[in-house]
Amino acid sequence: AAGTSGCSLFAGTPQPRLLPSAAPLPAPFRVPLPVPVIAKPTRTDGAADYYDLAQRAADLEILPGLTTRIRGYDGSFPGPTIQARSGRRTVVRVSNGLDAPTVTHLHGGHTPPESDGYPTDLVQPGTRRDHTFPLDQRAATLWYHDHRMDYTGPQVWNGLAGFFLVGDAEEEALPLPAGERDIPLMICDRSFAADGSMHYPGFADRPGVREPYMGGVLGDVILVNGAPWPELRVARARYRLRLLNASNARAYELSLSPGGTIVQIGSDGGLLTAPKPLSRLRLAPAERADVIVDFSAHRVGDHVELRNLAGEGPQARVMRFLVDRAEKDDSAIPRTLSVVERLDPAKARMTRDFEFTSGSLHGGTGWLINGRPYAPGRIEARPRLGDVEIWRLTSDVAHPVHLHLAHFQVLSVNGERQAGPPEWKDTVELRDAQTVEIITRFTGYRGRYVMHCHNLEHEDMAMMADFEVV
Ligand code: C2O
Ligand code: CU
Repeated sequence: AAGTSGCSLFAGTPQPRLLPSAAPLPAPFRVPLPVPVIAKPTRTDGAADYYDLAQRAADLEILPGLTTRIRGYDGSFPGPTIQARSGRRTVVRVSNGLDAPTVTHLHGGHTPPESDGYPTDLVQPGTRRDHTFPLDQRAATLWYHDHRMDYTGPQVWNGLAGFFLVGDAEEEALPLPAGERDIPLMICDRSFAADGSMHYPGFADRPGVREPYMGGVLGDVILVNGAPWPELRVARARYRLRLLNASNARAYELSLSPGGTIVQIGSDGGLLTAPKPLSRLRLAPAERADVIVDFSAHRVGDHVELRNLAGEGPQARVMRFLVDRAEKDDSAIPRTLSVVERLDPAKARMTRDFEFTSGSLHGGTGWLINGRPYAPGRIEARPRLGDVEIWRLTSDVAHPVHLHLAHFQVLSVNGERQAGPPEWKDTVELRDAQTVEIITRFTGYRGRYVMHCHNLEHEDMAMMADFEVV
């Protein structure tokens, strides 16, 4: 069986592959970091806040001097940031002004099935759909993005992604950096054609035939909030950075240069129990990490780079901070952040196995779960509402695995119990030939959801499965 021995077994399995830009790569740290606009509700009443997001094309200057046509929410990339509140119903109307069907998913949302963005719940051009998010969940950095079956890779690549921040009273009571010093950073790689347009491998209208990029598409330009290798001017103070890896297939190993500590305070599912000081932080596609970086040890005029130890050459850089002023800082990192219930494996009603491997698909190669390509409507697991279950996930090559609806905790990696306090995740990276056990409880809603690989090329080439909470 896959995953039981070393990775040499998978030597022939395609890995993510660099797609070089034809446009010249811009010099780093020349453009200021953009911060996505905060979406304004169109209406708010006793029951909910209502937002409109219009998917449309827009011409932006991403590479200096060139024009890039993006297809994004409200014609921006990243889309507007939605700032929502735990327990406060939020209704998002998405209208499709593009020339292709779309589906919007709130990643990390504890969402009823009809609003979750099931991959075939298509919104046709010229039509719209209302998503209702009860947000019966704790504060966390979430994001929304396209989820159209077989086309998520190109549609996210072209711009359909944005932040969705959920706040709550517990988090607000903490003295964390806030306001101007709480900044979402969407990190993603892209490639550009000579004329500046987004460059993505051409693909037939059939999944499974996109070789040689079936292992995943890596861009050679690293964007943060849509700008190539930007610079942010900061004060000598603490900053909260909400890191999101929105890349199709690239994983990052983030660190500060010339050194410094990244203090992680939150994960996919919100606050950790206690801050975690790190010298490097790995972020697979779709994962988030809320971190605090303290620039007070630096002098005015100092540069601090956010680097990617997993990348080479230009892809080893991400962005730069320029410390340019002193500023009063009342923030602090409390020693206790939150309480996270540890799910008890002894309470698990059952353990299910899922193998993530490559295999044949429509006469080509694709990505399968338990040997089967995605078939919408074919239910691969029926957990009961309220039940705790253990899911044992096994990989051939690396797969960032994401469950809709149910946040989970990592129990073990290759049989080794995870030490340390529990944390809530919605995406976990299986490295080459690994077995990762996760434990979760299915709460809130009955209905049909998906689990899939968040390497978007793998997802589009069928590495997805339905489960139904019954
Ligand atoms: Cu971020 Cu099913 O997706
Ligand atoms: Cu995968």
